[in-house]
Amino acid sequence: MKKAAKVENAPAPKLINRVEVLDDWQLKPKDTAEANANIPLPELYLSNAQKGVWLYKGNCLEVMDSIIEKHKDGCFDAIFADPPYFLSNGGITCHAGKMVKVHKGDWDKSQGYEYNHEFNMEWLRRCQSLLKPNGTIWVSGTHHVIFSIGYAMQQLGFKILNDIAWEKPNPPPNLSCRYFTHSTETVLWAAKNEKSKHLFNYADMRKANGGKQMKTVWRFTAPSKSEKASGKHPTQKPIALIERCLLASTKPNDLVLDPFAGSATTAISAMRIGRRCVVVEEDPSHVNLASKRIEAESNSAKDLFGTKLEGK
Ligand SMILES: C[S@@+](CC[C@H](N)C(=O)[O-])C[C@H]1O[C@@H](n2cnc3c(N)ncnc32)[C@H](O)[C@@H]1O
Repeated sequence: MKKAAKVENAPAPKLINRVEVLDDWQLKPKDTAEANANIPLPELYLSNAQKGVWLYKGNCLEVMDSIIEKHKDGCFDAIFADPPYFLSNGGITCHAGKMVKVHKGDWDKSQGYEYNHEFNMEWLRRCQSLLKPNGTIWVSGTHHVIFSIGYAMQQLGFKILNDIAWEKPNPPPNLSCRYFTHSTETVLWAAKNEKSKHLFNYADMRKANGGKQMKTVWRFTAPSKSEKASGKHPTQKPIALIERCLLASTKPNDLVLDPFAGSATTAISAMRIGRRCVVVEEDPSHVNLASKRIEAESNSAKDLFGTKLEGK
């Protein structure tokens, strides 16, 4: 008869303080050179380690510089970036059946191709530093910006993995009748560099596509009314789109960054699938909306470990 395994001397399992482990990436005063020069740390507008979500208010270039000071080899498993498309330049579009000028905000005005490219190089360079060696980045855009993004990625030595076409089934009509109706946006997916061994959850994507390999054309409707319940952002992305990007490229608990948070759709998507997320937004009204959305999601959701929180 087999002897029962001796258990009484087995080491006791280590208890880990989950919150401490989960927010170990965070900035503390001693972490930045700026702090030594009495320059304040970026403003952490909202922080909830239990839910794994952090919202910084400020310019993403500065916030990323501060995180790089602490994490020289990167700390993010994935980045989703929906940068300015630079298309608010007096053109026209159709909104709710009416002809309106395209004006998403001053942040979306083009300052010329060269300046725009310089800006794209600057934020992408920082994203590349912040990615872990095998981390990947997703960047959305239309023709106004996506070629510059792709070229900047090539210049910086990212490895471009896919170009996804997000197809919108119900795009606004083209009122001028001089062009095809714009009905897609591109989402580029790239690894930190040529050496990266990037994560692709192939089997999950295949399963989500009814057992067939998933293609690069993704069909998602624009955000529904319920996704705008906390307020409207002029360029809000659908939760389902970002959720798919994160499901394809990250594991539960992984850390995600969005440098252009807007209404914090990336944070909401991450919270729904148990990924941690740091988002940055500089426009005060958008920061306010982002924080409302995160609060609302926190009050309805489970914690990062799928545990229903007490009283919820
Ligand atoms: C295209 S929108 C992102 C929308 C977002 N994906 C969503 O679903 O709501 C870009 C956002 O970046 C912000 N932004 C622009 N330049 C920035 C910068 N340098 N630092 C931080 N945020 C910036 C804008 O205020 C705007 O809200």
